[in-house]
Amino acid sequence: MWPDNRLLSLLELELPIIQAPMAGADSPELAAAVSAAGGLGSLGCAMRSPAEIEAAVHAIRAHTERPFSLNFFCHAPPRSDPERNRTWLGRLARYYDEFGVPAPASLPAARRPFDEALCALVVELQPPVVSFHFGLPSEAMLSRLRAAGCHVLCSATTPAEASWLQERGVDAVIAQGLEAGGHRGVFIDDWRAGSGQIGTMALVPQVVDAVEIPVIAAGGIADGRAVAACFALGAAGVQIGTAFLFCPEAAISPLHRTALEQAHADATVLTNVFTGRPARALANRMTRELGPIAPEAPEFPVPAAAAMPLRQAAEATGSADFTPLWSGQAAALGRALPAFELTRLLADEARAQLQRVARGG
Ligand SMILES: Cc1cc2nc3c(=O)[nH]c(=O)nc-3n(C[C@H](O)[C@H](O)[C@H](O)COP(=O)(O)O)c2cc1C
Repeated sequence: MWPDNRLLSLLELELPIIQAPMAGADSPELAAAVSAAGGLGSLGCAMRSPAEIEAAVHAIRAHTERPFSLNFFCHAPPRSDPERNRTWLGRLARYYDEFGVPAPASLPAARRPFDEALCALVVELQPPVVSFHFGLPSEAMLSRLRAAGCHVLCSATTPAEASWLQERGVDAVIAQGLEAGGHRGVFIDDWRAGSGQIGTMALVPQVVDAVEIPVIAAGGIADGRAVAACFALGAAGVQIGTAFLFCPEAAISPLHRTALEQAHADATVLTNVFTGRPARALANRMTRELGPIAPEAPEFPVPAAAAMPLRQAAEATGSADFTPLWSGQAAALGRALPAFELTRLLADEARAQLQRVARGG
């Protein structure tokens, strides 16, 4: 009884609800529970080693035979820029002094872009769905994924990005509105010039008008009212991140969980101080004192390594002052339910809301 069943048929799902991949915050248990409930569970792989990805896929398959998704980042690796790194470490110097920790001697990239080796692994693992953030891999790699039977999804933050993805044969596009928690998936225009900052309500119908493929709405969706609203805007499914962070299966720290539980509607900011790319997080000391947007921050993902000693030192004292507390704007609507129940509840609420609207009552 969904207004648009194309995504359900395409991905062989019972419910049009995708649990967003959340690198560093999701878990095989979370993905498996959402898939078992009839939605699409996802595993963010940007911060997992190949061995961890393989183990997680086995764990999901041990729990459910339903479809699931693996997600990868497609950013360009950062250019070497020692001068920029030195400037950034200089900005953090007073905090290293405050915590009595040395500045890191090197700044290794903590997030790995999709590459040939990961492509070979995915072809071997044959997940039913592969999704990308920050654009797509090469046409050759996409062909190998398709030949392995994977459906391909990718985030877009503008109608132009959505059209670009459709031209390259993506099966469905995720329209990621500005309310979304985590990183903006901007990949065509320069985010520094303010590109890709369209709210979900305005973005979804414009993406629906721009492409023929199914559109998945993402950003600020936390209950059935918002799911129903996205269908009214022409979406064929939703991708939900922050609301799933409240599930016991989410692999977040107690500090992050407490901060989410206390979040209010106005608690988040769009910031690049944690990783070098704009991402939505709960405001904290780091975003307030260094950002929220710091033009001098090194390229993604270098700043994550620069902040790591501060994060660890602060967390050891029970403080989330330097922790990236990723969150979308609807965190205050979050409910601490097991992922299976939350997935079913979101679908039931949405169906009830759609029926209410259809009846006019
Ligand atoms: C903690 C967290 C981590 C995220 N990591 C990823 C990721 O690894 N890959 C990705 O495509 N999107 C990632 N996202 C963005 C989601 O795909 C999605 O756009 C967003 O969660 C939707 O907004 P919402 O959080 O308001 O539901 C992340 C979001 C959060 C909250």
